[in-house]
Amino acid sequence: MRRRIAMLGGTTNLGDCIVALRYLLNPRRLIDGPEIEKYEDAFAGKVGVRFACSFSSARVGIYGLLLALGIKPGDEVILQVPTHIVVPNAIRFAGAKPVYVDCTLDTYNIDLEQIAKKITPRSKVLLVQHTFGIPVDMDSALYLARRFGLILIEDCVHALGSKYQGRMIGSFGKASVFSTEETKTISTTMGGMVATNDEELAAKMREFRSCCQSPQTGLTVRYLLKLIVYHFLTEPHMHLFARYLYDKIGNRHPLPRPVSGEESRGMRPVRYEQRLSNAQAALGLRQLGRLESNLEHRRRIAEFYRSKLADPFYNPPCHRRGAEPLYVRYPVWIENRNTQAFFVSAPHAVLGTWFTSVLEESVSPAVGNYEEGSCPRAENVSKHLINLPTHPRVKMKDAEVIASEVMSMFGRGAGESEKSSKTVRNKSFGIRSAS
Ligand SMILES: Cc1ncc(COP(=O)(O)O)c(C=O)c1O
Repeated sequence: MRRRIAMLGGTTNLGDCIVALRYLLNPRRLIDGPEIEKYEDAFAGKVGVRFACSFSSARVGIYGLLLALGIKPGDEVILQVPTHIVVPNAIRFAGAKPVYVDCTLDTYNIDLEQIAKKITPRSKVLLVQHTFGIPVDMDSALYLARRFGLILIEDCVHALGSKYQGRMIGSFGKASVFSTEETKTISTTMGGMVATNDEELAAKMREFRSCCQSPQTGLTVRYLLKLIVYHFLTEPHMHLFARYLYDKIGNRHPLPRPVSGEESRGMRPVRYEQRLSNAQAALGLRQLGRLESNLEHRRRIAEFYRSKLADPFYNPPCHRRGAEPLYVRYPVWIENRNTQAFFVSAPHAVLGTWFTSVLEESVSPAVGNYEEGSCPRAENVSKHLINLPTHPRVKMKDAEVIASEVMSMFGRGAGESEKSSKTVRNKSFGIRSAS
């Protein structure tokens, strides 16, 4: 039977589903319990820092960090586009102003050469994002932070397991932020972690966390159910049908979504600051136990995509000497992405659409105070990028098929004739690709 690879899933296993089910059947330790501390300690160990503090999502971690660092209304936080709308939201909710810097086209990371001209007396934080898991040139980032007196924070949401000069990404800045939302390297459906070596900052983060709301039982139950349901529906043989159904149902399904309507409009949701539940921590801890094989798998699959899609036509990502990227997804530049062919999925896999806007998932970048035209490369990226899955369910054979599908749908000459885009449409199931 035909396989179809989902963009998410692949990081959970049957054992995780059984553990989730156990928490659902015996909810005594659903919200609070000892797994949270164990998970945080294990996470800090993986990143190679002394402290880690969990939250309901990475965005809440960024928000809490800015408060803990004493960021005041009117202070400026320098960050890159493309990024996700929830990042500038966290900055704005903390009272600060996001100042956007364009990305480079070889790494999709912040263009460090443009930082000097964005500095003002209000500049306080440099938030660098290791996009797709590609490490930022941390020597230069640390140098710039020192030179301009900025606090360096790492957005490692895509980059669990990436390294720079042999050291784990996330251990360079004053603090770093990770996500375990369902599309990331490991999944607790939703979840975030702040990691730091700074004891005082860690204490402040814990203090902030103690002021956050306790996770709601109903929502935690739905997160666990979602993890179980997605585990099965994203199984490659099931996904062929599941995705079809999902697209038919659209947004009417009852499972919780990672981004609320308010957040997409740049507004603060009512229950924003929340802690992570004990049950989700237990699931994160289990997946951390398998992290090495997860990372090794992603490394091999990304390496394969790199070898197949090495043609400069696909703008294969480059990284600095000493950087060891761990691709949560593999980015591919598609010259003719605007053809209709893009808006149907490849038959064998759902193609990822991260960064089809400079502020991903915003109703408009303007809601995050982004000024159109100010970062032309990032705007160009938003018109040309797709991303390919690297998660543990992608077998080498799948990667081969996915790479050939990309080449036949979008390679040199493809999509120029109406005929080829029609062929693609006919071959597919009329399903829109999604992140
Ligand atoms: C680059 C980046 N940073 C931060 C976040 C926020 O992560 P979370 O969904 O855990 O809040 C996202 C969300 O996908 C992201 O893409």
